[in-house]
Amino acid sequence: MLALTQVPRLLSLAPQPAPIGGPFTLTNQAGQTVGDADFHGKLMLVYFGYSYCPDVCPTTLNQMMRAYASLPPEQQAQIAPIFVTVDPERDTISQMDQYVTSFSPALIGLTGTPEQVAAVERGYHVYARKSGSGENYLMDHSSIIYLMGKDGRFLRHFDGDAKDQVIADGLRQALHS
Ligand code: NI
Repeated sequence: MLALTQVPRLLSLAPQPAPIGGPFTLTNQAGQTVGDADFHGKLMLVYFGYSYCPDVCPTTLNQMMRAYASLPPEQQAQIAPIFVTVDPERDTISQMDQYVTSFSPALIGLTGTPEQVAAVERGYHVYARKSGSGENYLMDHSSIIYLMGKDGRFLRHFDGDAKDQVIADGLRQALHS
């Protein structure tokens, strides 16, 4: 049994939930090394998935980029829409280039070494796991769109199945606050 005087001390030692986001180093679809700091000054709209995803990723990326496209150019200029692969094995730089370009020239595709990808997944609390074997494996993965502030800090998220209107409203709100 705990003496009452011990309680406040124990509470202060309770683990705090780790903040979402943080530093990362990855490679964009042009083969350039990029880090989180390269996007500071813009809102980052970040989605994790993989280019071989049969259904969820294409749907989400379409909604995300439709929301982005609905904003006026001066607002678009303040937002970096980013797709980070959870499948660096197959999502090479050229594969990412083809994939993100099919959605929008504005979409930034990021891949990296398995270690770099694992690190950014940890930072964003992303769940991703290989499902099946052979070259046609799938990836089970969480489906959340993260909105990060211009200072790189987590602002809010959108569910992966959020409609473009909901995402666009959230972006406008974040830009005005
Ligand atoms: Ni997917």
